[in-house]
Amino acid sequence: MKIAVFAGDGIGPEVTHEAIRVLHALGLNDLELVEGDVGAAAYRKHGHPLPPATLAIAHDCDAILFGSVGDFDCDHLERHLRPEQAILGLRKELGLFANLRPAKVYKGLEDMSTLRPEIARVIDMVIVRESNGDVYFGEKGIRTLPDGRREGYDIMSYAEDEVRRIAHVGFRTAMGRKKQLCSVDKANVLETSQLWRDVVIEVSAEYPEVELSHLYVDNAAMQMVKSPGQFDVIVTGNMFGDILSDQASMCVGSIGLLASATMAEGTKGLFEPIHGSAPDIAGKGIANPMAQILSAAMLLRHSFGKEAEAARIEAAVAKALADGICGGDLGGSHGTAEIGDAVLARL
Ligand code: IPM
Ligand code: MG
Repeated sequence: MKIAVFAGDGIGPEVTHEAIRVLHALGLNDLELVEGDVGAAAYRKHGHPLPPATLAIAHDCDAILFGSVGDFDCDHLERHLRPEQAILGLRKELGLFANLRPAKVYKGLEDMSTLRPEIARVIDMVIVRESNGDVYFGEKGIRTLPDGRREGYDIMSYAEDEVRRIAHVGFRTAMGRKKQLCSVDKANVLETSQLWRDVVIEVSAEYPEVELSHLYVDNAAMQMVKSPGQFDVIVTGNMFGDILSDQASMCVGSIGLLASATMAEGTKGLFEPIHGSAPDIAGKGIANPMAQILSAAMLLRHSFGKEAEAARIEAAVAKALADGICGGDLGGSHGTAEIGDAVLARL
């Protein structure tokens, strides 16, 4: 099990440290960890957020445990040198197109949600977000119009094969759950979305058991706070998935709790919390490492088929939460290491 560890910026190293302690505690005997630099940290050392050496490690490993990238000090850099390019570059270079973002309310912890407990209680969804295309990767720039005004542009597009392969992931994910798939788009306005919808409907013929529905993204955002329990699996594009997954995290209670897997065809994947580098609390030892610990669980499950170990980690996190262990993001006062200790004790 060769795992690349790219801790990155801000709270990334702190929370990754705890996830690694948890991985070691499982006593997996064939575990090999290879560290690499990403983000602003890599830019400072090597002049690039995703240096060739890091990319080589990523290619060579079976899975990547990724922390977070982002640093306000880099806001002035040209876009291709900004920390975020590390994660975007890895997704693209490794063909990591299927970003799975589960959002589930832990039993007894519905009070953590900003929604009313009776609404939050039933949340158990997976957002399947496409992560190789869309407006994220289209031609972009800032140009000057003939009359001298500046104009920013980012081209949104999806090719049908890109939609088809993520649709399959959506349907397969639904087949392993409640067999309900909701495709989110903006087909009432965008041609990109019309093609998305057409292709998802084509693919649905191969999954007769899955109940397919469609929502426009604005309506989906509203439904997610109105009755989030209606969602089993959501499949959507890169941009809408980015936004809806942050929203889903607050429906659960905290962005500090949501892990994600970004898979290529096959078992290679990148695993990261959906939160960012949180520069405001970095280095203080107060970040909640649970999302990163849960990312390690997803890594074991999706890249190595180690379901029992993954479930063990998830149960330990759930138990720690149930015992009142939580960080400032959830109104608690436990520090990063304390939360790590608490999870370890419950493994
Ligand atoms: C995410 C993040 C990234 C994204 C940023 C850091 C580029 O927000 O993983 O959700 O937009 O995909
Ligand atoms: Mg995001």
